[in-house]
Amino acid sequence: MSYRYAVERTDNSALAGGHVLRSAPGFPGFPVRLASELFQRAMVHVGRETVRLWDPCCGSGYLATVLGLLHREEITHVRATDVDADAAHLAARNLRLLTAEGLAEREEELRRSARDFGRVAFVERAVAARNLAADLAARGGDLPHEAAVADVFSLEGAVAADLVVTDVPYGEMTRWAGAVPEGDPMGGLLASLGRVLPEHAVVVVSARTRRIALPEGVRALERVRIGSRAAALVRARDVAP
Ligand SMILES: C[S@@+](CC[C@H](N)C(=O)[O-])C[C@H]1O[C@@H](n2cnc3c(N)ncnc32)[C@H](O)[C@@H]1O
Repeated sequence: MSYRYAVERTDNSALAGGHVLRSAPGFPGFPVRLASELFQRAMVHVGRETVRLWDPCCGSGYLATVLGLLHREEITHVRATDVDADAAHLAARNLRLLTAEGLAEREEELRRSARDFGRVAFVERAVAARNLAADLAARGGDLPHEAAVADVFSLEGAVAADLVVTDVPYGEMTRWAGAVPEGDPMGGLLASLGRVLPEHAVVVVSARTRRIALPEGVRALERVRIGSRAAALVRARDVAP
């Protein structure tokens, strides 16, 4: 596993929300180290060298993009979907940062802001974009990706993903929307994912809560608690209806 390696090689401050990756009011980010730790734990359970990653409640796409940048060698495709069209649009713009062209555009945009506003902070961010591009090029190059609008509760067809990592709505900041099942959104989310994912896939669900409540009879592969967040890792076939 390449956690320390990846984190040391890529300057983590370059991955802070709003620095090179885009953020917007109402779109919470996700702690970079926790994202990487959850990814690595899940990779052990997936048992494959590489995975197709999917975040079905992607918000700004921050979590999916950070994982793509940090773990380029282990990811062959990134999918990010959200019920909210503005979120999917922002996620598409962040996922473009998984390509040389997207990072070059971002670098140019930040250099323009540095010229227009005369602020050295923009120059630093432009340099960070360039460094991320060099790092990406050295570790496999452009990462194929897609962003789309989709309600996680009413997914159709099969989804070709081996690993889901997602941070679900909590409290005031983000709320469930779409065809939310009454009473147990978490159970509905897992059943829906279990329906469309291959049996071997691993699902990592995180939320700002003390403990992720799993449906009766579903055993977590692992549970993780860090700061204000809890996460549970489950196997797709164990949550399939
Ligand atoms: C906590 S945010 C995700 C933040 C994200 N991890 C990031 O790094 O930017 C939760 C997201 O779930 C989305 N959401 C709510 N209901 C949904 C549904 N039924 N299907 C898909 N996404 C949904 C919200 O629109 C919100 O963007």
